Amino acid sequence: MMNPTATAAQPTTGLQTNTTASLAGTAPSSSPMSTAAPAAPAAAAEEVPFHLRTKKKSLINRSSTDPNKILPIQYSFARECYKQGVANNWIPEEVSMQADIELWKSQDGLTEDERRMIIWNLGFFSTAESLTANNIVLTVYKNITNPECRQYLLRQAYEEAIHTDTFIYCCDTLGLDPDDIYTMYETIPSIKEKDDFVVSLTKSIMDPSFEVNMDDPASIQKLVHDLVGYYVIMEGIFFYAGFAMMLSLLRNNKMVGTGEQFQYILRDESVHLSFGQQLINQLVAEHPEIWTPEFKQELTDNITRAVELEELYAKDALPRGILGLRSDTVNEYLQFIADRRLERIGLDKVYNASNPFPWMSEIMDLSKEKNFFESRVTEYQQGGSLEW
Ligand SMILES: [Fe+2]
Ligand SMILES: [Fe+2]
Repeated sequence: MMNPTATAAQPTTGLQTNTTASLAGTAPSSSPMSTAAPAAPAAAAEEVPFHLRTKKKSLINRSSTDPNKILPIQYSFARECYKQGVANNWIPEEVSMQADIELWKSQDGLTEDERRMIIWNLGFFSTAESLTANNIVLTVYKNITNPECRQYLLRQAYEEAIHTDTFIYCCDTLGLDPDDIYTMYETIPSIKEKDDFVVSLTKSIMDPSFEVNMDDPASIQKLVHDLVGYYVIMEGIFFYAGFAMMLSLLRNNKMVGTGEQFQYILRDESVHLSFGQQLINQLVAEHPEIWTPEFKQELTDNITRAVELEELYAKDALPRGILGLRSDTVNEYLQFIADRRLERIGLDKVYNASNPFPWMSEIMDLSKEKNFFESRVTEYQQGGSLEW
């Protein structure tokens, strides 16, 4: 571990955050220490508990960031995402699959097109969740050494395990053949192309010899490039045709248990995406030299290619349209969310599409989530404040 006496350049309390200050390279002007004793900063610094003294943290620099020393928190977005994730706890077995089992096994409860759409989405998500979990654990965690970000990555990895478990549960309860579902990422071209694209985008940091280096902007650019692949493209675009389809089915009161689980996953993924976008923005803010016109164009091209692949997937899963949902409407929705993703990481929007599914925005708006997630969320949040 780093010697805590090394430099006490920016003493802060454990709960204080100084992300903005770190960007500007200055101590926070609103620091409780500077406010309390502006005339005697040296004396004030001595009042900071020894174990809370630190020099400025960074996201990726192993030599200046002690990965074991989470306080004081510098990157508050990671801490906030962690708390949001914990407040959203759930497990698949809480959701009854009884109505889904009866509907799935009935002769005429679902059309062939509806069955195809369900199978396509179970096929994509069942393996995509494992792919995402592997990316987090094997590459992102290795390169992002900041402890508050790592705390969130551990939470995200846990949630990906829950999502993987969801599809085990769905397969088990509906009596689906795992050899069919878990091979679709190899046998269905529209699914395989998405997975192959993500793997191709995230090859550089998956390479065991890759190491991000503060003094090597090219390595930081590679890391940001791959984070856009993991977070913006995989979790922010490739999951969303499936979310729209499965939640549309739920809104029509079909496969309600499966749909409810997709709702929970969507809520988790919204936080994953939010964390990823803030991580990307923070890396760019701390290393502005990587944000070249060529790099921005490359990222935009990757995102528009992802939209094309997701449109092909939607067309394949939904060839004729069902329940008022057509693949061209899904395409419009994908273009709408792609613009939002682009803007959130400081890129220009491309499509100027409007949102054909305003109900999806309501589901994704975390401030309104309790309306959608009913009592279970509240029970968990109350559970966290129980007094023994
Ligand atoms: Fe997930
Ligand atoms: Fe995720």
